[in-house]
Amino acid sequence: MYKFIINGGNKLEGCVSISGAKNAAVAIVAATILCDEPCVLENVPDISDTAICAKILHEMGASINYTNKNTILIDTRNIKSPVVPLELARSMRASSYFLGTLLGRFHEAYVPMPGGCDLGDRPIDQHIKAFDHLGATHEIVNGTVHVKADMLIGNQIYFDFITVGGTINAIFAAVKANGLTIIENAAKEPHIVDLANFLNSMGADIRGAGTDVIKVRGVEYLKGISYGIIPDQIEAGTYMVAAAATRGDVLIKNVIPKHLESITVNLRKMGVKVEEFDDSVRVSVEGPIMKNNVKTMPHPGFPTDMQPQLSTLLTIADGTSIVTDDIFDNRFRYVGELRKMGAEITVKDKIAIIQGVDGLKGAPVKATDLRAGAALIIAGLCSEGITQIDDIFHIERGYECIEEKLQAMGADIKRVYCQPMDSVAITG
Ligand code: EPU
Repeated sequence: MYKFIINGGNKLEGCVSISGAKNAAVAIVAATILCDEPCVLENVPDISDTAICAKILHEMGASINYTNKNTILIDTRNIKSPVVPLELARSMRASSYFLGTLLGRFHEAYVPMPGGCDLGDRPIDQHIKAFDHLGATHEIVNGTVHVKADMLIGNQIYFDFITVGGTINAIFAAVKANGLTIIENAAKEPHIVDLANFLNSMGADIRGAGTDVIKVRGVEYLKGISYGIIPDQIEAGTYMVAAAATRGDVLIKNVIPKHLESITVNLRKMGVKVEEFDDSVRVSVEGPIMKNNVKTMPHPGFPTDMQPQLSTLLTIADGTSIVTDDIFDNRFRYVGELRKMGAEITVKDKIAIIQGVDGLKGAPVKATDLRAGAALIIAGLCSEGITQIDDIFHIERGYECIEEKLQAMGADIKRVYCQPMDSVAITG
């Protein structure tokens, strides 16, 4: 079991380069099932979620060759069966994407109910609704979803609410269906646009990605290409907040500043200086960090995946802030851990009231999910004393080389191995 040990108090200074976007990469790796030739994916983040996705393809018969840690040559032509292996699928949310891609290719898919971050109940009824509208039937037997269609026929799909995964799966099922599919109330996240760009470069006909109406005209053949994945909006936002929390001065490179707008706006409201350049942003702090009221929304609103990190910064802001996050049932599980570090936060339903304190103090804490873990790292970096973070496998699902990137900016963070039940001596 690995843990992070952080000796807090160092300002982050210098620069950090952002990796490829996790949520684009997991969709695009799964999308290679639809491709009729080999593909080369570049800028794939070296994180456990993308490794698991590639492993699922490999176990199903695909050939996977890493030419370096961020570039994969994938050839899925040898996949002969639409069955996703049980244990791997259960370990990540994005395994649901194999429903859409296998349905698109084989007109049938067997996928164990997906796992991923425990953010409360995470149903896939809207994904199933999309498949049903395109002519598929479904059943769930012993926790495995089975979808099947004699023929997929384009249709109109109206989502009851905005769903990123549902939108992606609808695109997957529609891309080789007969005729035109119109997806309404679609999600607009940058990774949906990236996925559509990837599929269109292979020969798909997808229009409107990035708006709430996406039109997909089915095609018969998708050719192999080389494709570079966009930078990770949430990884960039996490380092922006970390720079602010340590009162540092950091240039965050290899970003698309437009994707960071809702984060930039909120940091500026809190008195943080954010300068935008063509493909980088610089974050620094001169005056006090001020309170802010934030509500998470689907893109282009403030992302739920940045809520724990921004809330952590608000724990050391002047005044009382109110944070509302109702996208998932359970996105405030990290609050109990932050309280151990001296934060004053109360949560009622989906609203957190955060009373800023003068500073946090290091403590032994546990990552409860990916973004909660990122928030605890930020808390540890700006705390006095030592913070030990357990269950860092959650963090490694989504952040490439996080301790190395932070060390290069001056953070005192170590990744250490401990026997189960061992605790690291906390001194200083
Ligand atoms: N929902 C349903 N039924 C469905 C689909 C969604 O009730 O069929 C609900 C969900 O339970 C949730 C809401 O709708 O309450 C939104 O869910 P959405 O489908 O948009 O989320 P997702 O596809 O499961 C992706 C990201 C999450 C990110 C959300 C929201 C991936 C692999 N995951 O999840 O990323 O929080 O969109 O932006 O793309 C993360 O990276 O830390 C992460 C959790």
